[in-house]
Amino acid sequence: MLERPNPDYVRIFDTTLRDGEQSPGAALTSEEKLEVARALARLGVDVIEAGFPCASPDDFEAVKAIAESVGRDETPGRPSQEPPIICGLARCTEKDIQTAYDAVKGAKHPRIHTFLATSPIHREHKLRMTKEEVVARAQKMVSFARSLCDDIEFSPEDAGRTEPDFLYQVLETAIAAGARTLNIPDTVGYTIPEEFGALIAGIVSNVRGIENVTISVHCHNDLGMATANALAGIRAGARQAEVTINGIGERAGNTSLEEVVMALETRRPLFKLKTGIDTTQLVRTSKLVSQRTGMVVQPNKAIVGANAFAHESGIHQDGMLKNQETYEIMRPEAVGASNTLLVLGKHSGRHGFAARLRELGHALEGEALDHAFKRFKVLADKKKRITDADLDALASSETARGHEFFTLDAVQVTCGTNGMPTATVRLVGPDKQLITHAAVGTGPVHAVFRAIDEIVAAPSELLEYSINNVTEGIDALGHASVRVRAAQGDPRVNAQHGAGGSAIFNGHSAETDVVVASTKAYLNALNRLLAALGTHPRTSEQTPSHETSGAAE
Ligand code: KIV
Ligand code: ZN
Repeated sequence: MLERPNPDYVRIFDTTLRDGEQSPGAALTSEEKLEVARALARLGVDVIEAGFPCASPDDFEAVKAIAESVGRDETPGRPSQEPPIICGLARCTEKDIQTAYDAVKGAKHPRIHTFLATSPIHREHKLRMTKEEVVARAQKMVSFARSLCDDIEFSPEDAGRTEPDFLYQVLETAIAAGARTLNIPDTVGYTIPEEFGALIAGIVSNVRGIENVTISVHCHNDLGMATANALAGIRAGARQAEVTINGIGERAGNTSLEEVVMALETRRPLFKLKTGIDTTQLVRTSKLVSQRTGMVVQPNKAIVGANAFAHESGIHQDGMLKNQETYEIMRPEAVGASNTLLVLGKHSGRHGFAARLRELGHALEGEALDHAFKRFKVLADKKKRITDADLDALASSETARGHEFFTLDAVQVTCGTNGMPTATVRLVGPDKQLITHAAVGTGPVHAVFRAIDEIVAAPSELLEYSINNVTEGIDALGHASVRVRAAQGDPRVNAQHGAGGSAIFNGHSAETDVVVASTKAYLNALNRLLAALGTHPRTSEQTPSHETSGAAE
């Protein structure tokens, strides 16, 4: 894995779980990170940057879990091939580097990625270091990292605004100290393609020893040029691209994986380069990341947006009917955008259902599989056409269930133009007691959430709620996502996350009834919050008298 790949191969380094997860509000739980990492392995990425282990104990544990399992075990649905490199980010300090190594060392192919800012503005105002001090620190820390691990990547942060001669000096130092990959970040998304291409070409021509290492590009999208810049860097000689699914990331985001991969694929005669990505997995992976992070993909987003393959105008439709190539440069099935019809139907057995889930990469077993199968049967009765996207949604909401302090027994809403939207919710509580509450709200979902709040009494604040259809059609499953934050100041939150700490929990559910999907998604988020706090506030003794309670069967 350490030898440089073929000159016509571009390594895909995915940083969705590190730079992507730094997007405001995109925080994932450890379980969700593992789920996304497995999907990335299935997609065929070469490197997974799993996190920044020194950032928090949670980050450390998540990176460690990914290193020890993804690519260590058999990832369902992933063709047998070498496991991906698992990478941890570290600042140029011994503590960060040691922590990153401790987190990734369980991987079959571990990598430490260490970075140090090199631009004048960062040197003077952030680091308060001279050029000489920057070079000396890079030398010392890359050598230290190399004493722990063979595969070291070094990034001169804000390379896009660094004086070229100084950049060459830092890069030569990093190569001499043992770095195998030199990543060139345009940290603030400042450059334009001609400049960024020239920056990489300058590095190819001027840095001693560059022929022995891989040049990588890492572009941010502040001026909307991340993909164009990354491709310009690749044309100039870079052979690794650092990217995220859906282009999520700090501020305006990072280079989008699907755009770079499909540009290389669609324009192969021009680039003459290939990647190891299974492009048919792109839309599924995009949906998973969008659902788990709560970051909605704009409909006109290239490759994975809902309208990316839709033809609305009559002239276009006419052309398409005559020859698809008139208006289509990629086939939707090449990126997994066409919904494969499931050959199973409502008479299918559990065995065939489980086998299809495995092919799709979902390792459900035992009680979770039984539960998903029951839901599949109910869905098959309601919905004419069941697609792989429906199965993904069913399996993912099963995976998201986790420990359930409260489960839904029944929900009923009244809403419309007359009267106040009202919801009655009956939950099965932690002691198996039934707890019922009714509430009014500005709409049916608001009323449901208020009724649940009364029952669960979790120290939480709702941050986001969204609902999207999984497939097209009036009978489609609705996928609800909810994001809640544990209320600061609550003694239980402080005990877990420190005073002022903010823990964010996501909930998901997919149902044909969007009110039920929303109810279950909200409960899912609150159950996760309670599980993280290791407690639930409600016991049968605390059930208020104005609620009807009884025993669940
Ligand atoms: O944008 C950036 O400079 C980074 C580095 C840590 C590589 O994300
Ligand atoms: Zn970045």
